[in-house]
Amino acid sequence: MSYQHLPKLDLHCHLDGAVRPETLVALAAEAGLSWPPDAASRCRVAATCRSLPEFLKTFEFFLPALGSRAGLRRAALELCRDMKADGVIYFEARFSPTLWVDAGFAPEEAVEGALEGLRKGEAETGVKSGLILCGIRNFPPERTLVAAKLAYKYRDRGVVGLDIAGDERSPLAAHREGFAEARKLGVPITIHAGEAGPASNVREALEFGATRIGHGVHVVEDPAVLAEAVKRGATFEMCLTSNLMTHSVDQMANHPFAQFLRDGVRVTLNTDDPGVQGSTLTQDFERAEKELGLGKPELKRAVLHAVDAAFASESTRASLRARIEEGWR
Ligand code: HPA
Ligand code: ZN
Repeated sequence: MSYQHLPKLDLHCHLDGAVRPETLVALAAEAGLSWPPDAASRCRVAATCRSLPEFLKTFEFFLPALGSRAGLRRAALELCRDMKADGVIYFEARFSPTLWVDAGFAPEEAVEGALEGLRKGEAETGVKSGLILCGIRNFPPERTLVAAKLAYKYRDRGVVGLDIAGDERSPLAAHREGFAEARKLGVPITIHAGEAGPASNVREALEFGATRIGHGVHVVEDPAVLAEAVKRGATFEMCLTSNLMTHSVDQMANHPFAQFLRDGVRVTLNTDDPGVQGSTLTQDFERAEKELGLGKPELKRAVLHAVDAAFASESTRASLRARIEEGWR
């Protein structure tokens, strides 16, 4: 069946990884960058990609084009339109506002550009959203602290949480201060862990205060960590297409999503980087049906897990829950 017109949530979507390639090409031209003729295809993950670090290489190519207030505003607005077309009624977009500090583009400007786009997008499409700010594991830890402070500063203007993304070989421990600040300030925390790295990274993320885990597929390798995550009521933000592209799982049949869902683990289905992957959330729902054998009642449960875990007010979650119940009847 088609899941396109069923109401869905996307809690794990990178704003920078969601930009349409043609928009990046246009932004590069506006910025006066001289991009090669094959630039649009270089904004997509290569079919030969075998790992998370290779996957992340794609971002290095196009990120210079996105480092402006107007660029982030446009990216966020178009993301609302793309989500609307895909049947998404609420999403949380994330990005690192400190990506362009070396180029002189200030983190506050980055946050404001993204928020302006999300606000305009909600007014136009009715799609609700929140913004999560990221640190990057393989970047200076001071930037994670900057992201934590900005998440607090902009908490009443659409920023809903703190994350850390990037190369999982770089230790989370270096970023202790940023997450301590977030906990102190009451900023909700999600952390990429157990994607390319081991189950112990998931334990570390829980200890850092994460109530949601980005991916976490490798948690299956340590039942004690999985049990700890379940005990704490943590939610896993899983992303099927992305996990295949980064080879976090070697084949879909080995993805833990279906088993987790059937075992009552709080799992959700998300896009990760729809622009870079050339994928949609609907496609991942259809993959879950065709390749993992999940049916509509089970997938509805995953959407309801996302409602429960959304970094949104109880009244927003109640209204999302009602719309899911209505739409998936
Ligand atoms: N993992 C880590 N960093 C990222 C990802 C991811 O899946 N996508 C974009 N940045
Ligand atoms: Zn991610």
